[in-house]
Amino acid sequence: MPALTLEMISLLSRIRELAAIASSLKALERGVVEAIAARLSHYNWTGFYWLDPGDAETLVLGAFIGEPTPHVRIPVTRGICGAAVASGETVVVDDVHADPRYLSCSIKTKSEIVVPIRAHGKVVGEIDIDSHTPAAFTEIDRRFVEETARIVGAFIVERCGRTI
Ligand code: SME
Repeated sequence: MPALTLEMISLLSRIRELAAIASSLKALERGVVEAIAARLSHYNWTGFYWLDPGDAETLVLGAFIGEPTPHVRIPVTRGICGAAVASGETVVVDDVHADPRYLSCSIKTKSEIVVPIRAHGKVVGEIDIDSHTPAAFTEIDRRFVEETARIVGAFIVERCGRTI
């Protein structure tokens, strides 16, 4: 399995540190997107979506860094975001324009990775990242984003009780 880059190892340490000190999930979300956007230049849009506690069929936009998106609420039946949460699996799309599920956020976006976040064994949300570079997300990126999602999921279990 390919090793994480030194930058990613250092970013994961920072994200673990943020999870240890964050006063709320909102504060952690903000810290994570800021840290990632500042240090991984091919991650051009980084954000969180959460399943609406009042409507488990809909994702709601959380903290993000990048161009504003029209997709502030996404039904779980739609988009690459919906596909990841419905399947409970990471989705990597090398060419978004060749994927009929893709919901456009920016004409510059070429590739995307979406990783579900689990708490108490259930998917509660996801991390969505877009790149202006085609096929930007390798196995290494998948490992990095999946570890970030685990850290955020563990924070929810430890600090937010049964609700978020
Ligand atoms: N591209 C996503 C929609 C979210 S925006 O990229 C921020 C999708 O296809 O679900």
